[in-house]
Parts: sequence; structure tokens; C-alpha cells
Amino acid sequence: MKEKVLIFSGAGVSAESGLRTFRDMGGLWNEYAVEEVASPEGWAKNPELVLRFYNERRRAVISAQPNEAHRAIARLEEFFDVVVITQNIDDLHERAGSSKVIHLHGEIVRARSSVDPNLTCQLDGADLEIGDTCEKGSQLRPDVVWFGEEVRLMRAAEKYVANAERIITVGTSLTVHPAAGLLKKAKFSSEKYLVSVDEMHPPYGHRFLRGSATMVVPHIVNCWIAGRKP
Ligand code: OAD
Repeated sequence: MKEKVLIFSGAGVSAESGLRTFRDMGGLWNEYAVEEVASPEGWAKNPELVLRFYNERRRAVISAQPNEAHRAIARLEEFFDVVVITQNIDDLHERAGSSKVIHLHGEIVRARSSVDPNLTCQLDGADLEIGDTCEKGSQLRPDVVWFGEEVRLMRAAEKYVANAERIITVGTSLTVHPAAGLLKKAKFSSEKYLVSVDEMHPPYGHRFLRGSATMVVPHIVNCWIAGRKP
């Protein structure tokens, strides 16, 4: 039986693929008001603005490529039983080759009915516009989780965290709940690393390794594959 590895990622893992983070300098929430573009109230007030915001995000994701961190994480699957839990709405983990990816905050390449969250569909890369409807006739919205909405995959995610023997948490400010609270579920005995370019206080028994995702994550992965401690 392969050992269980859990990757918990945030926007920083995709930063070196050219995708903007949220809270760094130049981050998206410095340019946009989160309640205007990422909340049910913002959608009710100005759906065109919300669609425009996410259409830009989708275009950026489609033209981005996975980086060395995404690829190193995918490589782990040869040796470990790996689950990736990501707060990211991009699909770079999948495109790098990871096969089990849980998107806590949804997926930008999918749309869902604005009436029934269970009615979802894959987008072929085109922008979403007012007037694009689901099979039952209601307006489509991005299949992402907005502030104030339930994170429906939390229960499943908690189980994976609790069962993991090794954890890498990478590129997240750990400020958005409930996602950030997931790590509380980690086993005391598991080997845990937090990777970030910025100084951070490591949570729940993590060891902090400062540096960019593309430098530090491949290092950890190579050590693990070679049977060494990073
Ligand atoms: P943040 O923008 O809050 O945090 C990104 C973290 O990545 C910061 O701690 C950076 O220091 C770090 N970072 C930046 N570049 C890096 C690099 N090259 N290598 C390693 N670390 C790097 O992004 P998240 O924590 O993912 O939710 O944000 C969480 C949620 O807040 C998002 O999923 C989104 C947002 O609002 C929703 O929209 C619901």
C-alpha cells in the first residue's frame, strides 16, 4: 500500500505560471472589490461585471501552463497515493498530470445554473455571457464558490487531510475559512511542510520552508522519492 500524501494548494502555486494571487502586492483583491465580483450580492447587483471578471480569469487560465511545482506534485503519484486539495479555480494541477484533485472553491472551466448548483457543464473555453442558459433555461454563472456560499466539498476534503501521512501546504495565505481550517484535521504524527515566498507562521505542526513553489516543492518531492527528509 502506498503512503498517503496530501497537497493543499492556493494561488501561490500557480503564481509562477503567470496567474495572479489574491492578497499579494498586485493581487486581485487589491484591484477589485471582492463583494462586487465574488459574492451572491455582487451577482444580483451587476452580473455583467461578475461575468467579465471571471471571463478574464478563464482566459488567463487557458493561456497559462503548469509549472515545475504542479509537475513535481503530479510525479509523486508514481510513488505515493496522492490527493490534491486546492483552493484554486484553475486546472493546472490536472494539466500537469494529477489525477485526484478536489477544487474547494470550484472550477473556472465549468459553469453552473444560477438556480440549481447541481446543474453544471464544462465550458469549451468561450466566455460566459448574459443569455447563456443551462438545459433548464436559467442563466449560467461560473461554477465557483463565492464569499457567503457553502464550500460543499469540505466534508470529503477533511477525510483526506485526516488520513494523510505526509502533507505539503503551498502558496496559500491560510486566511480564507473554512478552507484554511482544514489543516486542523491533520494527524499529529504526519510529516507536514508549509511552502511560501513570504514569512508565515506555520500552522498545526507544519515545518516552514521559505521559497518559491517551483524551487521548494520539487525539492521536497525529490527528497521523498529518494527516501530522505527534505
Ligand atoms: P492568497 O493570495 O491569499 O495567498 C497566496 C499566498 O501564496 C501568499 O501567502 C503568498 O506569499 C504565497 N505566494 C505567492 N507567490 C508564491 C510562489 N511563487 N511560491 C510560493 N508561494 C507564493 O491566495 P489563497 O490563499 O489561495 O477564494 O486565497 C484563498 C482564497 O481567497 C482563494 O481561493 C479565493 C480568494 O478569495 C475565493 O474566491 C472564494
